[in-house]
Amino acid sequence: MSEDEELSYSAAIQEASKSICRFPLIPVKGIPLMSYIANNFDAISAFCPDSSDLLIATYPKAGTTWTQEIVDLLLHNGDAETCRRAPTPVRSPFLEICNPPPIPTGLELLSKMAPPRIIKTHLPFQLVPAGFWEKKCKAIYIARNAKDNVVSYYHFDRMNLTQPEPGPWEGYIHKFMHGECILMCSAVPWGSWYDHVKGYWEERDKRNILYIFYEDMKENPRREVERIMRYLDLSLSDDIITRIVELTSFTAMKENPMANYTCIPKSVFDQSISAFMRKGEVGDWKNHFTPEQSAEFDADYERQMKQADIPFRTEFY
Ligand code: A3P
Repeated sequence: MSEDEELSYSAAIQEASKSICRFPLIPVKGIPLMSYIANNFDAISAFCPDSSDLLIATYPKAGTTWTQEIVDLLLHNGDAETCRRAPTPVRSPFLEICNPPPIPTGLELLSKMAPPRIIKTHLPFQLVPAGFWEKKCKAIYIARNAKDNVVSYYHFDRMNLTQPEPGPWEGYIHKFMHGECILMCSAVPWGSWYDHVKGYWEERDKRNILYIFYEDMKENPRREVERIMRYLDLSLSDDIITRIVELTSFTAMKENPMANYTCIPKSVFDQSISAFMRKGEVGDWKNHFTPEQSAEFDADYERQMKQADIPFRTEFY
């Protein structure tokens, strides 16, 4: 994307932000999606990637931006300047995102980029365009434990003025627990966390998906950066890995205007309500859940996840 196009992206967001509202949810094959996305879903499904494209898939707030930054740096040999060429959503388009014109959709941004592209999605496995699997694209899935994920999503929904109003925390936990409710007013965008993490987990071997955990990235970022590097068939020096780990620390990314979403105007992302780079911790759920809420959540978690053997960690011991 040229400098002019980047400028026009920022200008388009400024322009469209005047007509931004909290979009209602519409089910697509049972998954609640924001109306703009749902209404454009045929085109999204038909997207045909190149076999060199990489998919970064997550449930919202699981560490997408962090992984996009790591991958961009790995692909550019740790060159910080190159990775400051544009904000995250321009460098690594969000496949399904559609906002009011003139903001370019994810598909429009992708159509102007030459492969290999780093493509972000929050779609559950069954809604990902089949072309990704037909072309045997690489895919990285990042999963975050449910309790920290719901806390992060709650704060994000408070500040992202295009997503449905989250309402009070107490009610929000229930929306999260029953992600794909028939009543769209009591669902969360992109649906059930439980089905999302299980869907990719079940397909990971068959589709060669690299399944990584936010908590592992926090515990030992170097180990996980190296894991991603090997998956991408890259081999970078120890010094470059060290630099990438530093450049993708929470503190560094919070200060990086090309990674911290300050490119999005306040009328869309109101970071005075909650910063996009909010806390970046494991275990922040303890500051939000009451003991009763935690017990109810855990009992429901047991029920929804009993068949799945996914090694989530909600804290470090
Ligand atoms: P919190 O709200 O818990 O702080 P996504 O990119 O999928 O929207 O995820 C956003 C979450 O990842 C936010 O979590 C954000 O702070 C956290 N995050 C972003 N960059 C990070 C980094 N470099 N290290 C740790 N956490 C990071």
